[in-house]
Parts: sequence; C-alpha cells; structure tokens
Amino acid sequence: FKVPAPKNEPVLNYAPGSKERTLLQKALAEARAQTLDIPMYIGAEEVRTEKKKSLHPPHDRQHVLAYFHEGDKSHVEQAINAALGAKELWANLDWEYRASIFLKAAELLAGPYRYKINAATMLGQSKNAYQAEIDSACELIDFLRYNVHFMSEIYRDQPDSGPGIWNRMEYRPLEGFTFALTPFNFTAIAGNLPTSMAMMGNTVVWKPANTQIYAANVIMQVLKEAGLPDGVINLVYVSGPDAGEVIFNHKDFAGLHFTGSTGVFQNMWKTIGNNIHKYKSYPRIVGETGGKDFIMVHKSADAKQVATAIARGAFEYQGQKCSAASRVYVPSNLWDDVKKYLLEDLKSMKMGPTEDFGNFINAVIDEKAFTTITDYIEKARQNPLNEIIAGGQYDKSKGYFIEPTVIESKDPSSLTMCEEIFGPVLTVYVYHSENFEQTLELVDSTSPYALTGSIMAKDRYAIEMATRKLTHAAGNFYINDKPTGAVVGQQPFGGARGSGTNDKAGAKVNLMRWVSMRTIKETF
Ligand code: ALA
Repeated sequence: FKVPAPKNEPVLNYAPGSKERTLLQKALAEARAQTLDIPMYIGAEEVRTEKKKSLHPPHDRQHVLAYFHEGDKSHVEQAINAALGAKELWANLDWEYRASIFLKAAELLAGPYRYKINAATMLGQSKNAYQAEIDSACELIDFLRYNVHFMSEIYRDQPDSGPGIWNRMEYRPLEGFTFALTPFNFTAIAGNLPTSMAMMGNTVVWKPANTQIYAANVIMQVLKEAGLPDGVINLVYVSGPDAGEVIFNHKDFAGLHFTGSTGVFQNMWKTIGNNIHKYKSYPRIVGETGGKDFIMVHKSADAKQVATAIARGAFEYQGQKCSAASRVYVPSNLWDDVKKYLLEDLKSMKMGPTEDFGNFINAVIDEKAFTTITDYIEKARQNPLNEIIAGGQYDKSKGYFIEPTVIESKDPSSLTMCEEIFGPVLTVYVYHSENFEQTLELVDSTSPYALTGSIMAKDRYAIEMATRKLTHAAGNFYINDKPTGAVVGQQPFGGARGSGTNDKAGAKVNLMRWVSMRTIKETF
C-alpha cells in the first residue's frame, strides 16, 4: 500500500478579526469556564484516585483549570499489565490498520480538535497562540503524517533474494512494553513519543510532565476518537521515582522514549544499566535532553537579521525550548548595531497572559522554573564581568513572569554562558572581529551539549569554516537563521553529546529504534 503523501500542515496566523482567532478565543473561553476532572487512562478504564491535584495556567496562578488524579506504583503496574495485555492483538494487526488510526488522529487535530489542543497548550503551558499553533497542532499533525509515511517505507524495505532463495525481513515490535516520558514544553513532542512507538506495534506506558497533563488529556481523547484500542497507550500521572522503580525493574521493559533534562536521562540510563540482567532484551533507549544552543555571528553578517534571529531564537516560548539560543558570540564591529536592533525588538515584545494575543512573552512554567531562572539572573548580576543590558526583572504575584533578559559578559566561561538555564535569559560575548576562528573553538569547547546552533554570515568562507569546525557542536545547524523551530519532514531534530542519543525526531531512524528485525531465509 502507498500511504497519503505527507505534507506539512499549513500554519494558521490568527490575524485580528479572523475567523480562526474568533474560534480560538471561543475555545479558550470554554476551557476557562469549566474545571476539568482528568483521570488516568489505563486499559479500558478511566482511573480516579483519592489524590486530586490542581492544574493552573502558569500566567494565572489563582485560576484552577482542572484537577488530575495522581496515581502510585500500583497504577504503574496496572498500566504495564494493560500494555502487555493489549500487545498481541496490536502487534499482529496489519500495519495499514495502525496507520489509519494515526492518520485519522492527524485529521482530527487538523479539524475539530485544532482549537481545543491550542487552547489547552495556551492555558496549561502558557504558550502564545502562534507558538501553540506551530508546535501543538501543526507539529503533532506533521509527526503523525510523516511517521506513518516513514513506517510504510520501513515495512517496504526488503533484502535481495536469489534463485531458489527468498529472503524476507520482518519488522516486529520490541518484545515487552515501552515507556514514554514526555516534557511540558512541546505538546507535539508529548504526542510524538508514545505514538511513534505505538505505530510500530508497541504498547506503551506514558507519563507526561505534570505541567503537561492538561494538553496530554486532549491528545488521549483524540487518539481514542481515532480508534486506538484500549491498552495500547496507557496514560498515568505518577511521580518519577514511582514510575522508575516499577518500570525499570520489570523483566518486560523493552524501550524508553524520553525528552527532558540531561540529569534525569543519565540517572535513568544508570538504573537501566544496573538492572540489565533482569530484562529479556537490551532495552532501546532514545533520549532528547538538554542544550546550550549558540548563535555565532561573523563580521560579514547583517546586523538587523542577526538581531531578529537572536530575539526570536532566545525568547520564543520564554526560552523554554531545548533548542533556544542562550549564548551568542558577536564580533566587535557589529555589536553596536546588533544591540540597537535587539533592544528595539525586545521593546516590541509585550509580556502578559496568553489570552491577549498581543503578548509575545508569557509566563514560565512553574515555581521551580521561576526560582531556578531568577537565581541565574541574580548570580549574573553579582558578577562584575557581566552587565544586564535588557530585562532582569521578574514578578510571580499573578503568574511566573520573567522579563526577557540579556546579559553582556566579558567572560566566555561565565555561568550563564555555559550552563543550561531553560528560560528567557541570553548571554552575549563580544569577541574581537578578527578572532573568528578562535571563537569557533570557544563555541565548540565551552558546552557539554550539542543540540542546535547557528552561524550568521554573508561570507561563504566563514560559513564553510563554521560548518566544518562545529561538526559535533550541534545536531541541528542553521545557516543564517535562528536555531529553533525545526519542521517535521524538513529538519529532523536531535543532537549528541549531553543533548541526547540523536535518534532524530521526525525521521525514519527514530521509528527504526522501535522495531526488532527478524531476517528470514527460505530455500526452495
Ligand atoms: N524541535 C524543536 C525546535 O526545533 C525543539 O525548536
């Protein structure tokens, strides 16, 4: 079978007065007017517990959006059993049957659920309408469509045979159950991790970040409406330690698909390593973790273009993207102009709740993030080699608001230049315009991460030199663009070093991790 040719979902612009804006505002008003009661989804059951916890918009801490039911180790066990119970039927279905379900889910998101999923992301994760449109609705639709296409390509890929011999390749799901652990910052990633494993015939225990449960609940509704059988994806809300203890001690644990912090990923890997003798097979481990993403500017670059790339790359979604630019290297000949344009751009970025579409900057995700980020700002302020040239103020009285903050540092090894902050904080180092090559070495050596990065230059030789010297510094490398916003099917996403296993999201290589191949040779 040939699946529908995948296409990127066109992004709606929500212009003032547009029908789309009115529909999204309606969805926001409806979501605000009700307080949802969100259960876990285990097998055919909606599971409610005594332990109800509230969810709030990060930009409006007093408002209760929903209550979710927190589970414990017993619920993780139930979810594993449900996944194992659903496995045989699911794994043995024709792949076209599975494909239809995910294609249907994509159409539901593109149509009737579009405003609902965007409103959930805007309220639950404090993401503005445009960013929500890009990376909750469109990117998730793209993941589903492209992954179905990659899946069909995988199954079609067969070895050569010869006279009297027929060689065949079977792409079986992993033996056992798989585990998806998803982050708050991208609704699309939250949807992609469990569905990409399920698509290949696996059954899944899915634990989203608590701050993502509101939108995860919508994804689950979409999948159910699309016809996903009970038990294929089981959504649980439990603590990390509870999930880890049950899952990583289970003999049938077969794979982990993770996006989140480097520390959490490394700890899980250690636990899995310590338990390796307990499992039937070596579990597949796929993780996309931290970043300290750079923009490297050459003296030939266009100052205005550089400023735009910095402002967008660093401050979209309050810098809470693993891909966000957080260290910038600007040559001395351009800095005055870049600074002027950057400060102008920042002035035009209004901060406030997501429901006002004029606000580009919204709140950071929660109290913990607010504390971590503002600590970095205060430490930077105390360093005499730093100057805060924009922002630096914050206020959590209504929501977790932090101004987009730019630090100019004379020390390229300073704390905020080297550590991941995951917030709206950018550090700029101004280098002597003639020291381009040495500065490339600095970019490469001062971060343990390698997720995204950009070179801004008009000079072709400078572009080539940066591309070569920074071979291992970024899994997604941009020339004359910001380092965020990878599009599924166009820029497969992921990095190495401390940034992950580089099994690109939105690519065939990722889906290949969720199959175990059997080669069959038949002789006639
Ligand atoms: N894939 C996301 C981006 O490129 C993280 O910004």
